[in-house]
Amino acid sequence: MADIGTDINRAMQILNSDELIAIPTETVYGLAGNALNENSILKIFQVKDRPFFDPLIVHTNNLERITDYVKYIPDILMEMANALMPGPFTIILEKTKAIPDLVTSGSDKVAFRIPNHPLSLKLLAELSYPLAAPSANPFGYISPTTAKHVQDQLGHKIEYILDGGECAVGLESTIVEWKENKLHVLRKGGITIESLLEYTEEIEILENSSSNPIAPGMLKSHYAPKIPVMISPPLAAIGNYNIERIGVLAFQKTRKVIPLENQLILSKSGDLNEAARNLFAYMRILDSMDIDLIITELFPEIGLGRAINDKLRRAATV
Ligand code: TXA
Ligand code: MG
Repeated sequence: MADIGTDINRAMQILNSDELIAIPTETVYGLAGNALNENSILKIFQVKDRPFFDPLIVHTNNLERITDYVKYIPDILMEMANALMPGPFTIILEKTKAIPDLVTSGSDKVAFRIPNHPLSLKLLAELSYPLAAPSANPFGYISPTTAKHVQDQLGHKIEYILDGGECAVGLESTIVEWKENKLHVLRKGGITIESLLEYTEEIEILENSSSNPIAPGMLKSHYAPKIPVMISPPLAAIGNYNIERIGVLAFQKTRKVIPLENQLILSKSGDLNEAARNLFAYMRILDSMDIDLIITELFPEIGLGRAINDKLRRAATV
């Protein structure tokens, strides 16, 4: 199993020998390797069991370093990046040859982000190359928000997990691209649409599907627990299931007919930040229960509620 610790020198040594480690970020843990080295990139796809058509996000510790690897940054993205990075914000830019095609799945554009986590920022500052890092989960499964989540699923495949505690945001980064004078949102995440509107009103939110994986790469079914997930208003659709064997993932309130111990409440006080932070960890807990179905409900379509709903819809299977 992987060692879990906070030793940046050890992390560097492993990365320098083209191997992978898990790194903490404010969104979710990443499975990181040298973004300029094809051997490391190949290992990322292998360890995650990820299809090669799904490109990787590249991480650096400052904006100047991003400019080394891209042709240019549109003014508006520069303004946004200055304000929102480090943070859960990823920008798609035209790449230079320094970024291997394997990273971008053949696209001439690359996704960059600066994670807002002190340990990873320190690591990135010491490395001479940026890190490619998808979420550190097997492809299609729930993203990890603690070192233990990574250990449980990928611990037998990597040597070291840099432990940065529980992820403060708990949802992946918001991915944007400036195209045809519009801000295209390729993935809803930790930066809300409301905050993007402070920079431009020209926003187009792309709802992705599995028929168009290259665009934002977010496949329709994703973040999925192994136990079937159903989005349903309270108790409307549980007819065929044994009440004792149903789990609930709810925003604020429990449901009377279902056993209390099978119900997880994301934020009793209705705080969307708290709900986002708990989302993936609670999905994992429910997925480890001896139940037949997970019922969940949609959140208000505001702020982080939109990104949470997006994850729930992709997790839903019935
Ligand atoms: O918060 C995050 O972004 C986390 C942490 C670890 O930084 N990373 C993450 O990576 O969520 P991943 O691989 O699980 O999701 C990245 C998404 C993919 O679905 C991919 O398709 C999209 O970003 N993406 C990456 N490069 C792209 C590109 N050049 N063009 C379009 N989409 C891209
Ligand atoms: Mg992922």
